[in-house]
Amino acid sequence: MTSIYHHFAKHYHDGPYTLYAEKIAHETFPHFLSLLDFKPLTLLDLACGTGIFAVAMAKNGMRVTGLDQSEHQLNIARKEARAANVEIEWLHASMSDFTPAREVDCVTCWYDSLNYLVKIEELSQAFNNAFLALRPGGYFCFDMNTIYGLVVQWQRFPYFIQQETSDYLEVVENSYNYEVGLAQMRIIMFERNNKTWNRHEEIHQERGYALDDILLLLDHAGFTVKHLTGDPRLMTPLGDKDGRVWIIAQKPV
Ligand SMILES: C[S@@+](CC[C@H](N)C(=O)[O-])C[C@H]1O[C@@H](n2cnc3c(N)ncnc32)[C@H](O)[C@@H]1O
Repeated sequence: MTSIYHHFAKHYHDGPYTLYAEKIAHETFPHFLSLLDFKPLTLLDLACGTGIFAVAMAKNGMRVTGLDQSEHQLNIARKEARAANVEIEWLHASMSDFTPAREVDCVTCWYDSLNYLVKIEELSQAFNNAFLALRPGGYFCFDMNTIYGLVVQWQRFPYFIQQETSDYLEVVENSYNYEVGLAQMRIIMFERNNKTWNRHEEIHQERGYALDDILLLLDHAGFTVKHLTGDPRLMTPLGDKDGRVWIIAQKPV
């Protein structure tokens, strides 16, 4: 597979994708914290991307570490932190293969990131690492695409134009491989260079996991699930047709 969040990183950051992290930073996560009556001082954001959420948390006064496996995403995140005048520790690593340096109050992982772990062993290892990174009583908050989300909702739009300006055109092709149980997003980027256009492509693969498997892995890691919902605003139970599951799990005291 070609490396991902490489050429795409700058277009990810300039595109509509970051609205999701903004919403989590300013609505969903504050809502979770008030629900838990929890005020973390230290936070590790796994798969932090271009740092939108991490920078917002640092601006709120938390001591933040952001981890991502794409150096290109992290380079943008570093610039974002400098522009916002906040200090953040950035780690270039895979969330399924790193050793936490210290315990934090809260670990987060948002927006499809855990679906990028296409082997169940990798997901298990990421949960174990989140557990190790937390202090007793700390919370792990994350969301994931459900199988329904990837198999049905994603496939409603097999082809679409995600971004279009006079200098850039981004076409996305979604497909689902039933034999291997993987959703694929092919991102085709056309960039204007004076009178010519350059073409780049990245193929992203995501796996949806059965809820029972997710819960079993969290349990094996040592977590207690405190909240599980398909709607983080209403906190209603996960429905068959929810495209995303939101989970708040606690490391027992
Ligand atoms: C959809 S983006 C989400 C980024 C960020 N959480 C946000 O909300 O904007 C997925 C991110 O996961 C990262 N990623 C994928 N697999 C990873 C892994 N094994 N370890 C760490 N980061 C990973 C990618 O580099 C990318 O930045």
